[in-house]
Amino acid sequence: PVPEPSTVPLPVPPVLAPAGTHDGVDRYEITQRRVTAEILPGVRTELWTYNGTFPGPTIESRRGRPATVVHRNELPVPTVVHLHGGRTPAASDGYPTDLVLPAGWPDPAAGHGHHGGDAPKMHDERAATSRLTRTYTFPMDQRAALLWYHDHRMDFTAPAIWRGLAGLHIVRDDVEDALDLPRGPRELPLMITDRAFAEDGSLAYPALDPNLRDRPGVRAPFLAGVLGDVILVNGAPWPVHETDAARHRLRLLNASNARHYELEAVTDDGRRLDLVQIGADQGLLAAPVTHTSLPIAPAERYDVIIDFAALPPGSRVRLRNRLGTGRTREVMAFRIARAARDNSRIPAALADDLPTWRRAEASAVRDFAFRAGRTPHGRGWVIGDRAFDPSRTDVRTRLGAVEVWRLVADVHHPIHLHLVGFRVLSRGGRPPLPHDAGLKDTISLRPGESAEIITRFDGYRGRYLFHCHNAEHEDMGMMANLEII
Ligand code: C2O
Ligand code: CU
Repeated sequence: PVPEPSTVPLPVPPVLAPAGTHDGVDRYEITQRRVTAEILPGVRTELWTYNGTFPGPTIESRRGRPATVVHRNELPVPTVVHLHGGRTPAASDGYPTDLVLPAGWPDPAAGHGHHGGDAPKMHDERAATSRLTRTYTFPMDQRAALLWYHDHRMDFTAPAIWRGLAGLHIVRDDVEDALDLPRGPRELPLMITDRAFAEDGSLAYPALDPNLRDRPGVRAPFLAGVLGDVILVNGAPWPVHETDAARHRLRLLNASNARHYELEAVTDDGRRLDLVQIGADQGLLAAPVTHTSLPIAPAERYDVIIDFAALPPGSRVRLRNRLGTGRTREVMAFRIARAARDNSRIPAALADDLPTWRRAEASAVRDFAFRAGRTPHGRGWVIGDRAFDPSRTDVRTRLGAVEVWRLVADVHHPIHLHLVGFRVLSRGGRPPLPHDAGLKDTISLRPGESAEIITRFDGYRGRYLFHCHNAEHEDMGMMANLEII
């Protein structure tokens, strides 16, 4: 029952109102629960959601104004919430064994599982579990940017996100407000995902344990990652958005588990519109960068201005994926409904606060190879030659240290660091690519490619992670501990 592209209207996730505000801290409440929803016309799909919708509700924060989010777990399995791109103290960063346990789930800290079987990592002695609810605290002491929150449970992140546990968190600040960027209905968050559906409308995912309780991992043919053949934007299949002939600000997020896209905007008479990038994962660039197409790997975000001013009412612009085939070539469309005034502009200078760390400042240079390898669960993915082990510290560094990391990949791996933003210094021994501009928290390494990144481990001490954001690779070993002392 797959719909024709451009028939379903684009939904925009609701913005969550704080349940209360106390001493300048906004408190939000989210319940994680199962719902059924009509994603494909005429069939019901069971989803695991934040507050009943996929994507979950959008949280909007001001820089420097802390937010607390109380998550209540009414799902049948433990969950963990991570704010991707958040500059968050370790206790609220959603470490994979910091579980929020559902009613009736045995306490892993008690030393015996409900199954006596093979999920030993859940018995990590440092696991900080809580029953039913957990309060996450986010200082929001960071640049304006599009962040997202998603599940991060040990061994089961990929299927949990697939079922719907993902939402947006937008940070705003005065720097951004001072620019005349498109706003209101002309600013659109676009969470792009791919999903596969079974005949009865249920989400299809090749989990070894369909209940996501005991046995992690996917069936062998899916070790490289799980792809779907239906493209969803904000949870709707190939949607269409009716709008003004004016500039629009697209806040793009690839929340797919494993699919890469190369986005282009094409008019029905075959012209490509420029995608003017103004921001990266961690906020505004110093100056705009114009692209005719834009690669976006899992977990990456791009902040892009597109101008529909020259298009007559009734015309259509398709957002397409150059890497797709058949129906995965289409992403969504815009239908120009009317001519309109436009007071927005794209300033030649955007932000002047981008960090410029120099190699000479680096107190360490580290090498990491991301590749296929053996894990305790069988074939999987490793960093160096080691699969993730929550009880091992892989990197220990000092708060404030500047480091250069040299990353190399066998196949495509989007590499993400928690807590910090980084700059790309080089790619394949050459200068960075145009889309590497700005402050990143995820870098897409192409097959066989190497890259150097530089960052300062600033913010908070504690145990953080870095990992591949192909969610299947992440679940199957490609993650490591980063301890900041
Ligand atoms: Cu988007 Cu460690 O996560
Ligand atoms: Cu990977």
